[in-house]
Amino acid sequence: MDLIKLNNLSKTYQIGQNKVEALKNVDLTIQNGEFVAIMGPSGSGKSTLMNLLGCLDKPSTGEYILDKNIVSKLDNNELAEIRNKKIGFVFQNFNLLARTTAIENVEIPLIYSGINYKERESKAKNKLDLVGLRDRFNHKPNQLSGGQQQRVAIARALVNEPVVVLADEPTGALDTKTGEEVMTIFHELNNSGITIIIVTHEIDIAFHAKRVITFRDGVIIEDNNKI
Ligand SMILES: Nc1ncnc2c1ncn2[C@@H]1O[C@H](COP(=O)(O)OP(=O)(O)O)[C@@H](O)[C@H]1O
Ligand SMILES: [Mg+2]
Repeated sequence: MDLIKLNNLSKTYQIGQNKVEALKNVDLTIQNGEFVAIMGPSGSGKSTLMNLLGCLDKPSTGEYILDKNIVSKLDNNELAEIRNKKIGFVFQNFNLLARTTAIENVEIPLIYSGINYKERESKAKNKLDLVGLRDRFNHKPNQLSGGQQQRVAIARALVNEPVVVLADEPTGALDTKTGEEVMTIFHELNNSGITIIIVTHEIDIAFHAKRVITFRDGVIIEDNNKI
């Protein structure tokens, strides 16, 4: 099934008199269950693409269809709703709330979904267990290693059962060994059927994906599917 479809999608930023064409007429289809790495030099449009895919921003022109929803036609409220329901985000710097336990961090998306306390706690524990943090439920970010913090962030990304997990440089702040451990988790998640799209500039990290798409100057210059 086509999970993501971009038709002739462009994004132009305007700052004063200056226009930056960050994405130019991009066509892209991603199926349910894929594991995609997005590569390309700095400034090639990778984060812009992730922001659009994640419904954080809207394209200037073109169409974005996510799980049969024409996202490019939605207003900001509808966009926020689809984002909370269908997208899990993982960031380079984890973006966890300080002074807040692992469980509470993972519960946050469920608060927005209006889920009651008991159910929130059980779902959060379940996802923390899944990423191997069973013995760290009540630890706060500063009591966890970088790799453990990123695993909390992955648990948080999963807690609403999203259709896709988007990760922008998820190993960028981690050493090589810890980065590999985080990639192993993405592997396992993908094996269980979750669609994963990660941005990386490290070829070793991209190697984990089944498909590698390379951008330059806002266009796709290479799209290699290993299967
Ligand atoms: N919010 C913004 N406002 C203006 N220009 C932006 C903005 N975000 C990105 N850009 C520009 O768009 C281009 C693509 O940026 P980006 O998507 O962040 O690339 P990458 O993630 O591949 O490094 C760059 O030229 C960048 O300067
Ligand atoms: Mg970027």
